[in-house]
Amino acid sequence: MNSTAHQKVLILDFGSQYTQLIARRIREMRVYCEIHPFNIGFDKISSFGADGIILSGGPGFVKSEDAPMIDVQVFELGVPVLGICYGMQLMAHLLGGVVGESARREYGYARLELDHGSDLFAGLGEKQDVWMSHGDRIEKEPDGFIRIGRTESSEVAAIERPDKRLYGIQFHPEVAHTPRGTAMLGNFLFKIAGLKGDWTMRSFVESSVKSLRELVGDAHVVCGLSGGVDSSVVAKLLSEAIGDQLTCIFVDNGLLRKGEVEMIMSTYAEHFHMKVVMVNAADLFLGRLKGVVDPQEKRKIIGPAFVEVFMEESRKIAGVKFLAQGTLYPDVIESVSFKGGPSAVIKTHHNLELGDLLDLALIEPLRELFKDEVRAVGEELGLPREIVWRHPFPGPGLAIRVIGEVTRERLEILRGADEIILDELVKAGWHDKVWQAFGVLLSAKSVGVMGDERTYENVLAIRAVTSRDAMTADWAPIPYDVLGLISNRIIGETRGVNRVVLDITSKPPGTIEWE
Ligand code: XMP
Repeated sequence: MNSTAHQKVLILDFGSQYTQLIARRIREMRVYCEIHPFNIGFDKISSFGADGIILSGGPGFVKSEDAPMIDVQVFELGVPVLGICYGMQLMAHLLGGVVGESARREYGYARLELDHGSDLFAGLGEKQDVWMSHGDRIEKEPDGFIRIGRTESSEVAAIERPDKRLYGIQFHPEVAHTPRGTAMLGNFLFKIAGLKGDWTMRSFVESSVKSLRELVGDAHVVCGLSGGVDSSVVAKLLSEAIGDQLTCIFVDNGLLRKGEVEMIMSTYAEHFHMKVVMVNAADLFLGRLKGVVDPQEKRKIIGPAFVEVFMEESRKIAGVKFLAQGTLYPDVIESVSFKGGPSAVIKTHHNLELGDLLDLALIEPLRELFKDEVRAVGEELGLPREIVWRHPFPGPGLAIRVIGEVTRERLEILRGADEIILDELVKAGWHDKVWQAFGVLLSAKSVGVMGDERTYENVLAIRAVTSRDAMTADWAPIPYDVLGLISNRIIGETRGVNRVVLDITSKPPGTIEWE
């Protein structure tokens, strides 16, 4: 599904670690953009209908044999092009300039001096701090281009050919280390490419609802509801588009947090009047997990059990042609990035491939969005705050937070403690500042005293992390008084826990979950 009606920018990815950031910056300015690998071919580039093209940075060298290339005709499309770092070198190289390997790698801050009052730098002072990260540099710009900026070590740090609307910059405007970088990108979008900046979540909702209606026709759609923000937004969007033709399947695997089942049923079935089939499969999941302690073994049981239950339920619904899933843009980009490029981040979490198994066509209405955009759509659709700002929750649920064997009793202990952690974080205003926060019930036991009695009970760890995307994370600096409250409440109110500890490991080297 594509929002073809919008103005849009095409970002060609040459493998820079910053490519996604370029997209973020552009979308923050309300311009729709998509990232595609540099080698999608000239026909695709020209039929994309871009209103502006950005060539990203990348680790290559334009003169090497295996240098990532594009067709020189890209510069003849009449579409404005901005080349960043490798993208600038490639533009210069293809249009007849000279790019050389410089003896010294330029990395870090540089002072850019602006010449000639280019539109790209309109409204900015004559000197700008910029972030450089490159080995090669342009020795001579192509004919017809002029130099519009230099730094101490690069005479040609920015170039332009205004009559053809071609621009190149050696530094990275998309990173926070280039303080006025967003203004430069904005100049490219609005002053040079003449874009309007009218892509909003409202317009996304309207165009999605319309195209979902056309796509689905009078067929039926199934959607797995997990209670997380992604599947919730998918379900609500579809329900606005096709109403009763949507059936949501919610599998209670017995591994959910406290109150989750009730919350889901009351929100979707009662409040939004959506068709939700709730399957109580706790016995099945917990039965198969009996005696299992290895984390990967747990996953190998839970994933397939979910598929089994989901398939059985969806087969009961007549006329189903589509399966809706909450795939997000970062997953899509990861899978299109060219092999070996730094933006080809490894994602290990399994894709259940339910669509194939059920022989259903996939609908992925969120495949163009980043996580924070999904949240904005959720708000636009009127989903409750608690759902929109919910922390991500893993598919295997509490099974990977009860260390060792998963039993009903241990799940109950963890549920109680976990609820207290979230409750106190909400009250202290910390819930939305962290990416995830939860309890982990350890397999260690500890000695304590309660009243006059010696106790020998469970240890519970508090895990709270800040993160942008879960690929890396830092432990969250929750204030001591909040931690103190959490600890007192857990030990006072949760039977079976007599000691609370705090996990202060970042990722890497740790992972967010303990298992
Ligand atoms: P780790 O523990 O690998 O977690 O740092 C990164 C993110 O992924 C979530 N996670 C999972 N999600 N199935 C999922 O759907 C899994 O098996 C799984 N393991 C970890 C984790 O909660 C964090 O957000």
